[in-house]
Parts: sequence; structure tokens; C-alpha cells
Amino acid sequence: MGNKQSTKLTKNKNKSKISLKSTTNEPKSWYVEGRRYANYKNSKYFFPEDDIEIDRLQMQHYLFRNIFYGNFSAPVEDMLKQGGRILDIGCGPGTWVLENSCNFVRSEFYGIDIAPMFPSMIKPRNAHFIQANILDGLPFEDNYFDFVHLGFLSACFSEENWITQVIPECIRVCKPNGWIEFYENDGAAFNGGPCYNRIVESLKQEFFTMDLNIRAAILYKDWLLKEPNLINVQEEVRKQSIGNRDCLAMIMEESLKILFQTLAPRLAKNLGISVNEFEEMLQDVHEEYNKYGTYMNFYRVYAQKV
Ligand SMILES: C[S@@+](CC[C@H](N)C(=O)[O-])C[C@H]1O[C@@H](n2cnc3c(N)ncnc32)[C@H](O)[C@@H]1O
Repeated sequence: MGNKQSTKLTKNKNKSKISLKSTTNEPKSWYVEGRRYANYKNSKYFFPEDDIEIDRLQMQHYLFRNIFYGNFSAPVEDMLKQGGRILDIGCGPGTWVLENSCNFVRSEFYGIDIAPMFPSMIKPRNAHFIQANILDGLPFEDNYFDFVHLGFLSACFSEENWITQVIPECIRVCKPNGWIEFYENDGAAFNGGPCYNRIVESLKQEFFTMDLNIRAAILYKDWLLKEPNLINVQEEVRKQSIGNRDCLAMIMEESLKILFQTLAPRLAKNLGISVNEFEEMLQDVHEEYNKYGTYMNFYRVYAQKV
């Protein structure tokens, strides 16, 4: 959102439409060591919201879509073709919304984010972006969406947030018979070498300090299974190599490299080393991926509302 004014959602009850109203002149972002951060009020989220981060998220999006051969796993394709209403929570740069709104022109796609990274851009008529914090409640009425989707939000919510706020809100705004889908990578990689393992331990520590669970992906299925209003809970897991093995493995490595560079000051501090020493470790990590056959698991979990 850069320096734009923050906005508040209001709903026109008669027309059931969402509109944006400006509420404050408060600065919305600031810079730390050359990276731009948003004012994530009421949120644990600690990642930047600048162009480098947008590139990383877009890379991650295309990687994920290729790993799963598509943008969703729930059986929603017919509904999307015929025309439905879809929500993407924590949409970031809006890549998922933009791509799907082009593919399914009869459906209406809504992306919400506490600090949306989408520029004020030319976008399809059926793509809508709204600033909102899900922890304050979603600005939609009950049973509003046919499909509620969210991805890569493990750095945003504590386990308590997930169980008591995020999942109940997803269920509330989803129509009966509609679908909810979460995607995420498991923050633990397997067959990591010594440098990689040290970096991941430092990352886990950072998440733990913020009361976040870097392995939330492996818990989604159990959380959804416990919800009495959800049925047909399904989990898909895909293994993705990191390194030189193939094109996706190289993209995976590049995306992790940008993530580690982004968090370098925090991770180096946890490891008790300088940022320069941390950068040197990243060189060794590159060698390790291929030597040890490092891989990561990616998860998609979906369920239907009764
Ligand atoms: C890692 S990004 C994922 C973006 C997108 N889902 C994707 O897959 O590219 C996490 C996003 O969640 C947003 N976010 C963090 N806390 C939030 C909250 N409480 N409510 C809504 N969005 C939030 C951040 O601003 C950020 O854009």
C-alpha cells in the first residue's frame, strides 16, 4: 500500500457491495536496512512488502502451482466455470486472484490482506482487492463465498489464532457445500546438510519467539478434522527437491535463497554470527542441497462446509 491512506470497509446493505473509505493519514510503511515494511497492526507478520518480496512470492506461487499441476485441489472447477464468489485471505501481491480471475471470468474473486502489496493496477473486472485484518473479523456476511482459499500464512498466526479465529472465520464466510483450501510448505526440510540445518534451526527459533509455528502445514488437516461443520477433509502432500535436480528444484533453491537473505539480520543474530558470515553460509548451503539430496514437503488441505 506504500504511502497511501489506510482504508476501512463499509458495506452497502441494500446492494450487498463492499466499498473502501479512507479513515486515517497514518504512515503505512517504513524502511529497515533498505527493505520496506508495512505497518502490520495487530499482526505477528514480520516480512517486508517491497518489490523483492513480491518477486519471491510470485516465484513461490508459480512453483506451487507447478508442483500441484494447478491453482487448487478442491473440486471447485465446475463452480468456477459457471460463476461463483471466491475469497483469497492474505493475498499479498494478488497473484492467485489475478490468475484465477482471468481463467474463470464468470466468477468474482476477492483478495484481502492486512497490507496489500497489489499496486493500483489495471486488473480484470472480476478481481477485487480489500484491505482487512482477518484477526479483526472478515468484512463479509455469513455464507458469502463458494470457495475460501489461503496460502503461505504460517508466518502470520499463532496456533491459537488459527484455531480460534482464522479457521472459524473461514468457515463462517463459506457457504454450506462450499469449500475451504489451505496451502503451505512444511518449514522443515529433509536431508539437509549441516549449514542448512543450522539456518533452519535459527528460522524455527525466530518463528517460535514470535509464537508462530513454522510447521503449521502438517497440522492443518487435524485442525480441519476437528471442526464439526466441515466434512470431506483431504490432504495432498508433494515432495519437492531443492538444488540442481530440475527446473523446479532450482526455482525452489532461488526462492529459499531470497527468503534467507531477507531474514539474514535476524537469522545471523540467532546464530551469533555476522551478516557477512551468514552470507558465506548460504554459499555452502548451495553445495549441500545436491550433496545431501535436500527436499521439502508441500501441503494442500481442503474441506467442505456442511
Ligand atoms: C507470505 S505472504 C503470502 C501471500 C500470498 N498468499 C501468496 O501466497 O503469495 C503473507 C501475507 O499475509 C498478509 N497478512 C499477514 N497477517 C495478516 C492478517 N492478520 N490478515 C490479513 N492478511 C495478513 C501479509 O500482509 C502478506 O501479504
